[in-house]
Amino acid sequence: MTRLGSTDLDVFPLALGGNTFGWTSDEDTSLAVLDAFVAGGGNFVDTADNYSIWADGNTGGESELIIGRWLAARGNRDSVVVATKVSRHPDFRGLGRRAILGGVDASLARLQTDYIDLYYAHYDDPGTPVEESAGAFHELQVAGKIRHVALSNYSGERLQEWVTVVRDNGWPLPAVYQPHYNLVHREPFESDQAPVAAAAGMSIVPYFALASGFLSGKYRTADDLQRTDRSRRFVAQYGSEQALAVVQTLEAVAAEAGVAPATVAISWLRGRSGVAAPIASARTLEQLPALLASATFELSAEARAALDAVSATVAVG
Ligand SMILES: NC(=O)c1ccc[n+]([C@@H]2O[C@H](COP(=O)([O-])OP(=O)(O)OC[C@H]3O[C@@H](n4cnc5c(N)ncnc54)[C@H](OP(=O)(O)O)[C@@H]3O)[C@@H](O)[C@H]2O)c1
Repeated sequence: MTRLGSTDLDVFPLALGGNTFGWTSDEDTSLAVLDAFVAGGGNFVDTADNYSIWADGNTGGESELIIGRWLAARGNRDSVVVATKVSRHPDFRGLGRRAILGGVDASLARLQTDYIDLYYAHYDDPGTPVEESAGAFHELQVAGKIRHVALSNYSGERLQEWVTVVRDNGWPLPAVYQPHYNLVHREPFESDQAPVAAAAGMSIVPYFALASGFLSGKYRTADDLQRTDRSRRFVAQYGSEQALAVVQTLEAVAAEAGVAPATVAISWLRGRSGVAAPIASARTLEQLPALLASATFELSAEARAALDAVSATVAVG
């Protein structure tokens, strides 16, 4: 277990991503994946109020609804750390006070709970003063609707602005920062946001730990990336020559250690400075064991150095 920032939250060092729920995983599969994740030691689930709005026929909130039905059916709310996000649901856009106060109630209802452990500002909202957004998050903390504040998709400069505003007002610092961060997408996080987050004592909980499946090893050539609608939309962005070289190194390390490439990729991320728990999703039950194994698999110093070196050659994303 890993402690998140200066909170009292102890989490399994792998968060289960919830954006497949109601999208590429139907409800029965989603529930089975959640059960297996907990059976494998997991306790940290990541979602957002708009997941999975991009799927045909969805309107947003499908992932939270499935998680809510699972929590209610299993009666395990107190043993699961639930993280969700506000700013991208069509009914509650941006980070104005009204959107945050309305968005949290809608999420609580869908999740069938009266508190959220970690509540994220999903994306920066440059049109709203940081003091208004941070003040609304603090209001929710005082009301007990959320336990801790977190941020995702901020520039280093705007992250610093949030930290300064909460310090000036005597409000708690955000506990977690959630960047797009993986072996083929190290920048701009490492240079721009990591120093600010570290100075403020925030834990890092990176998303796209598998680069949407690219780092599972199932895409080996640029042509592989064009095969499905999902790969064209989400995975093809990673398909540079340098990124394919990362996959080759990953496969060599994985073969040597006798584990799956996905396990190696997530373990590499877990070992980076400040990272508490990478987030990854499993579309099927069969995909989950490789993800769970990352929580305990330790890379050798040589393997880590090889992955550090090859991933440093990937162009800034
Ligand atoms: N803060 C943000 O803005 C933000 C943005 C995006 C995501 N997130 C969070 O991060 C989570 C993870 O993102 P993600 O799911 O998009 O990306 P990811 O974890 O990098 O990739 C997961 C995908 O990889 C494939 N996969 C997983 N395990 C595999 C295995 N063992 N073998 C082969 N393929 C495997 C599956 O897709 P296929 O089987 O379909 O290929 C799965 O859906 C999301 O659920 C969400 O909670 C946050």
